[in-house]
This record gives sequence, structure tokens and C-alpha cells, in this order.
Amino acid sequence: MDSIECTKRRIRAIISDSKVPEDPRHAENTLEWLLKYDLKADQALQIAALAHDIDRAVESKRVRRVDFDDYDLFKSAHARNGAKILRGILDKCGVAKSITDEACRLVALHEVGGDPRSDLLKDADSISYFEVNMPLYYQREGWEETKRRCIWGYRRLSARMKEIAKSIAYEDEALTRLLKEAIGQACLED
Ligand SMILES: [Fe+2]
Repeated sequence: MDSIECTKRRIRAIISDSKVPEDPRHAENTLEWLLKYDLKADQALQIAALAHDIDRAVESKRVRRVDFDDYDLFKSAHARNGAKILRGILDKCGVAKSITDEACRLVALHEVGGDPRSDLLKDADSISYFEVNMPLYYQREGWEETKRRCIWGYRRLSARMKEIAKSIAYEDEALTRLLKEAIGQACLED
């Protein structure tokens, strides 16, 4: 097995054990969105898409929301910790240093972006939250917290992804209403 295949298998194995039920689907779905907008996405980008939330799947090392007053500080600690965990996997699989450094850089930046490659990852991650994570997030967190998370998530989308988010409908009509309310509020406050 080559080093890239080794890495992807390990990432998928770790994420399949996550206590957050939407994590495995979200990892694959983020990769799908990434490849939809960049058919030629290289291995560093693909690995970063699969692994960007790996922090959440490693119970002994994960960053906890309750330890942070500020949501953005929590998110940036989550991203940095994910990059650290990913580096351990890439090293174990013997991946070339240039790919390792770039995949870890992308994971560390996935919540904020800042250059075309990390912006693309951030966008794929953000739209995937709406497509995959939101209904399960709602079951755990309830209306108000999910609405806050949707407003936050909608603001980080690129213009083209905002248009896609506006057309998302869920099986549960209440969730579609929640998303519309969140988008309406995000647009009002911008
Ligand atoms: Fe994510």
C-alpha cells in the first residue's frame, strides 16, 4: 500500500470511531464538494478534506467547547489540534514532507481560510455542514444553538455557496424554516 492510501485508510478508520455521528459522512461529503469545484485537487487537499475535523474523533486529545468562552477561539484550537493529529498519521505512513506540511497547513487554516487553497477547503467544509451535519446538530443542540451555528456558518460561505445554501431543503420542514430564518438574519446583520 502506498503512503497516501495508508494515510486515507487511517484517517477513515479514526473518523469511523468518532462519537459525533455525522463525522464520517461529513468527511466524505467535504471531499466530494472539494472535488466538485477542483477536479484536480491534489493529495494534500484531499487528505485535508477528509481529516479536517479529525480532532473531534480522538476522544483522548480532542479540544472541548466547554473550555472556551469564545467560539472562534475554540474553532481555531480545534483546527490546530487536528493538524497535529494528522501530522502523526502522515509521519507514520511515510508521506513526503512537502505533502505532509501542506495537508497540515490546510487543516490548521480550514476554519478561517486566507489563500485560494484553504479558502476552497473552508468553503467545502462550510457547505457540507448544511448538507450533512445540520439535522444531527439540531437533534443534539436544539433550535437556538443550531440557528446561531447556521448564521455563523452561512457568513463563512463564498458567494456561490451562499446561493447553494439558499436552495437547501430538509426532509423536516421545521429545519428548512430554521435555515431560512438563519439566512434572513445573517443577511440583515451584514
Ligand atoms: Fe468540518
